[in-house]
Parts: sequence; C-alpha cells; structure tokens
Amino acid sequence: LAALKDFRERTLVAVKPDGVQRRLVGQIIQRFEQRGFKLVGLKMLEASEELLSEHYCELRMKPFYHGLLRYMTSGPVVVMVWEGHNVVQTSRTMVGHTNPAEAPAGTVRGDFSIHVSRNVVHASDSVEGAQREIQLWFQEKDILNWDCCDQTSTG
Ligand code: TYD
Ligand code: MG
Repeated sequence: LAALKDFRERTLVAVKPDGVQRRLVGQIIQRFEQRGFKLVGLKMLEASEELLSEHYCELRMKPFYHGLLRYMTSGPVVVMVWEGHNVVQTSRTMVGHTNPAEAPAGTVRGDFSIHVSRNVVHASDSVEGAQREIQLWFQEKDILNWDCCDQTSTG
C-alpha cells in the first residue's frame, strides 16, 4: 500500500509566459512524458495577481517580487499536474537550478534560459508545497486518474 501511494506522488509544473511565447510548451511536456511521468492535469490561463500572490506568498518581501508578478502576468501560462514515483524531486532536477547560469545543460532551465528573471518553468519544491500549489491552481474534478489501456482487452 505504501508503494502504491508512492507512485501517486504529484507535482505542479508550469510553463511560464516566456516559455509559452517562445513555443517551448511541447518540448517541456515531452521531457516529462519521456521520463515516464503521467500527465493528470493540464490547462492554459492568464494567472491573476491574486492567484500568483498566493502561489508566491513566501516571496512577498523579496526585492524581485514585483518584477516576478509582472513577468508571470505578461501572458498565458500552461499549468500541469504530473504524477509518478518521486516526481517532486525528479522534476526539480529536470528543471534545474533557479538561476539558469547554475543550471546544467540537459535541464530545462540549462537548455532554454540565461537569466533568473526569465527562467521558463516552475516546479514545486516539496511534496507539501506541491499539494498546496495543486489545490491552488486546480479543482479536484480537473485532475484525471486515468490508467493505461489493457493491451489484451478487445474492447
Ligand atoms: P524560487 O521559489 O526561489 O525559485 P524556484 O522557481 O526555482 O522554485 O523563486 C521563484 C521565482 O522567483 C524564480 O523561479 C524566479 C524568481 N526569482 C527572481 O526573479 N530572482 C531571484 O533572485 C530569485 C531567487 C527568484
Ligand atoms: Mg519555488
């Protein structure tokens, strides 16, 4: 039972406005699919300041906070819920360091960005943070618990 629960770990990944504008959505989704994670939620929206101030509530006092909100409201974002074993930590590794200059090649930020203020993608940083962020961005009904089709069935 514990093992099953482990495979149901979920995280929130978002392609930020620069990633959408630069047509990187497909490549980012492809990386998570080919790694083996399961897409269980997906939507595109123009995030409100209210939603973003909740999402980034821990950063409210940071000097970059207002620029961050301006960036995140500069166009639509594509927000996803990905599921699978250790998905929170593995997604952070796949996304790379917050500062693209420190993100190795092979990571999303290391391959597609050069500056922290335009770092293309978001991924939750802990299991608890992921649960909070998923609740914030998605209604439970919009997260789908699909299974792989049974290859042996004739239906
Ligand atoms: P943070 O949660 O620290 O990074 P991460 O996205 O890797 O979890 O910060 C949130 C976002 O704030 C970050 O992706 C880009 C922006 N940011 C800046 O613009 N300047 C900064 O110095 C930092 C630390 C973050
Ligand atoms: Mg963060």
